[in-house]
Amino acid sequence: MPRHLDVMAGCRSFLPMQTALSVQDIRAQFPALARRHNGHAVAYFDGPGGTQIPRAVAEAMTAYLYHHNANTHWAYPTSRETDAALLAARTTLGDFLNAPADSIVFGPNMTSLTFHVARALGRDWLPGDEVIVTDLDHHANIDPWRDLAAEQDLVIRAVPFDPCTGQLDLTALERALSARTRLVAVGFASNALGTINDVAHVVDLAKAAKALTFVDAVHYAPHVLPDVEALGCDFFACSPYKFYGPHAGVLYGRRALLDRIKVARLVPAPQASPERIETGTLSHEAIVGSAAAVDFLASIGSGAVRRDQLAHAFAALHARAATQIRHLWHGLACLPHVTLHGPGPDNARTPTVAFTVDGYTSESVSAQLADQGLFLSHGDFYAWTVVQRLGIEGLVRAGCACYTTDEEVERLISAIKTLR
Ligand SMILES: Cc1ncc(COP(=O)(O)O)c(C=O)c1O
Repeated sequence: MPRHLDVMAGCRSFLPMQTALSVQDIRAQFPALARRHNGHAVAYFDGPGGTQIPRAVAEAMTAYLYHHNANTHWAYPTSRETDAALLAARTTLGDFLNAPADSIVFGPNMTSLTFHVARALGRDWLPGDEVIVTDLDHHANIDPWRDLAAEQDLVIRAVPFDPCTGQLDLTALERALSARTRLVAVGFASNALGTINDVAHVVDLAKAAKALTFVDAVHYAPHVLPDVEALGCDFFACSPYKFYGPHAGVLYGRRALLDRIKVARLVPAPQASPERIETGTLSHEAIVGSAAAVDFLASIGSGAVRRDQLAHAFAALHARAATQIRHLWHGLACLPHVTLHGPGPDNARTPTVAFTVDGYTSESVSAQLADQGLFLSHGDFYAWTVVQRLGIEGLVRAGCACYTTDEEVERLISAIKTLR
């Protein structure tokens, strides 16, 4: 099995140990789960668009704002405390991605960070140089490269996916590589269909062609513990608001690249990486909250150090979500008015299921389910090309998160059954 597809790799040694927190213990930490709608308990299946926040994350942000709020690099206590908090957050996010703290860049969201890095890289590229993107990706990992190509006469090569299976055509990707390829932009997991791509293989192919890799892990990182060191990619981006944190973006960049890429920057701003990549004053509270989200995830598991705790937690969450998604998939597959899209439950995938219902728009399905307290997103989720290739108006998307219960999955299947 390819190393990245074995999502339990590195987690096995944790399984026999002390059990991870139960779903009820986890749920008790999320105030949002007390919400009711139309007399129904709300079930949040909208995690792929953004998860709910545990109390500890909101409290860490509030504590920062109440007691340490300042700008950076000054000589008084709150400023020094802010510097320390940001450094600690880089260490924590480094543990999460298995990367050194000084390779972690913060930003407002993944999209802004990608535009920023694309512009910087493009300053060293020539007309006719090539960038590979994929049709399976969220447009945050397509349009920054297309924009750059339009400005600098670069060539974009788009790799297709199979609309029946939701799998990326890796042979086409290999064929698209050439001596002119400067970068391969690839998603680790599809936020529309849940497919997990063989990104380790893509990185190996890109390296052989001397091309850089920019991995969009926004939909992957909430479900599989990332390991950028093992992956060997050049850039790796994720968004804490998809894994129980606040709205922010996090970018890992290989240190040598962070030091030398020609980012747009203010002359008096810090010159050393990773700060040289960051622009203006960031949301310090969101950075603190992002680290708190990683600590929340670690608290679900057990182990001697944070990385071990995270590995244990992800192994337990993965096992639970895989069972739920299998049940959801089979529960929907037997409904004649429902079409499932993307890879089946036996493939490497996230716990995200996309479907359409005959005779209804995706928005009307979502609205009808919302009436029953079931919150699901609809549309293209900015994976616009995916929806185009499927030839449909939009998808309804159900995502399992750490707080999803088996009963909620059952409620969802029953509610979809009655849509006819
Ligand atoms: C796979 C994927 N990539 C990128 C993004 C964009 O992330 P952000 O909102 O942090 O810019 C999203 C957001 O939904 C996503 O799901």
